[in-house]
Amino acid sequence: VTALEDAAAKTGRPDLPAPASEDVFSLLVQSVDDYAIFVLDPEGRVASWNAGAQRLKGYRAEEIVGEHFSKFYPAEDAAAGKPAAELEAALRDGRAYDQGWRVRKDGTLFWADVVVTAMHDETGRFRGFAKVTRDLTERKRAEEDRLRLARAEAELRLRDEFLMIASHELRTPLGALRFNLASLDLLRKREQSGDSRLERAIETAKNQVRRLSTLVDRLLDVSRISTGRLTLVFEPVEVVALVRQVAADFHASAVHEGSTIDLVLPEGPVQARWDALRIEQTLGNLLSNAIKYGRGNPIRIELAADDVLARITIADAGIGIAPDVIERIFERFERAVAARDYAGLGLGLYIARHLVAAHDGRIEVESEPGRGTTFVLEIPLAGPARTERSEEA
Ligand SMILES: Nc1ncnc2c1ncn2[C@@H]1O[C@H](COP(=O)(O)OP(=O)(O)OP(=O)(O)O)[C@@H](O)[C@H]1O
Ligand SMILES: [Mg+2]
Repeated sequence: VTALEDAAAKTGRPDLPAPASEDVFSLLVQSVDDYAIFVLDPEGRVASWNAGAQRLKGYRAEEIVGEHFSKFYPAEDAAAGKPAAELEAALRDGRAYDQGWRVRKDGTLFWADVVVTAMHDETGRFRGFAKVTRDLTERKRAEEDRLRLARAEAELRLRDEFLMIASHELRTPLGALRFNLASLDLLRKREQSGDSRLERAIETAKNQVRRLSTLVDRLLDVSRISTGRLTLVFEPVEVVALVRQVAADFHASAVHEGSTIDLVLPEGPVQARWDALRIEQTLGNLLSNAIKYGRGNPIRIELAADDVLARITIADAGIGIAPDVIERIFERFERAVAARDYAGLGLGLYIARHLVAAHDGRIEVESEPGRGTTFVLEIPLAGPARTERSEEA
């Protein structure tokens, strides 16, 4: 008496005859539906089929029994002789394992984990193959997602590390260069050299150094932000003047690109307690984008304030941003344009969002491809809730 028969006999229904062990066993195999369990005849034709096989592969027993099992393989695997190789391996070693893509009846693929066992009867005669197949598609997808994520994170970490080192390394020679240029300029003035070419060369070099310094500062900011080491200084600032100043700073480059900057400002002053330099930098990042991606169209900056919030709107009528990438543009190194079309590192908005958030403010974007983009900043006039001021309170 086998264990199964024994169990069947003990179900408390002595009136029902216990099924024979083979029946119970085939019932078991039939009803398992997490695994496809089926038999192949020695030639590889399907000889039995269970509920799991139907669920996994989509065929009903009457549709598939008698068909060759190479049907379950993608065409190129079947053509490469994989099915036959699998059976040969099972015959040679008694058993063969495989993981790979298999095809369902409806043509979709699933990632299968397969064990094939060569079956022999009591006399040792080879009778065919037992195949047990599991669908590991979801596990494989999850694993792939995890790998992709890990790879992306590692890449970001590498870039951050590179940025940190590069920006620190660049700062030293830049500082020296700036100092040397200033000395040269001083010398030129003292010698009262009337050479205008020398004067122009020095001015140009100073401008280049300024641009380089801005770039290096921006790289430094990013590495400070991503390591949590950026500190802000909150001080009284008048916002109307600040917005005017930023617009004035960018006037020349806007004109160069064929754009105008229209200001819409409130009548009276707007007092805030912000890190003025950082908000200036934020507006500068947004404005330089509006100029860069604005296609020479007018740009509008609007400031509105109530007792609590300042709302600054920067609107351009440029290339716009596609809806499917708009979520990503605030991430570091993320860009929605090709590098060959527009220069940039994809850092401006990342920094802007961080600086605004450090003021407890927020930054929102609305855009329509081909129509233009509007960024809206909302920043509490009192600055962030968690500064020394509120700690005193
Ligand atoms: N006003 C805008 N109009 C259209 N696209 C924009 C605008 N502002 C930002 N974008 C898109 O968002 C992306 C990210 O902007 P971000 O300012 O962070 O980087 P960048 O301008 O490419 O480079 P960086 O500012 O570091 O020089 C840009 O590459 C661009 O695709
Ligand atoms: Mg930018």
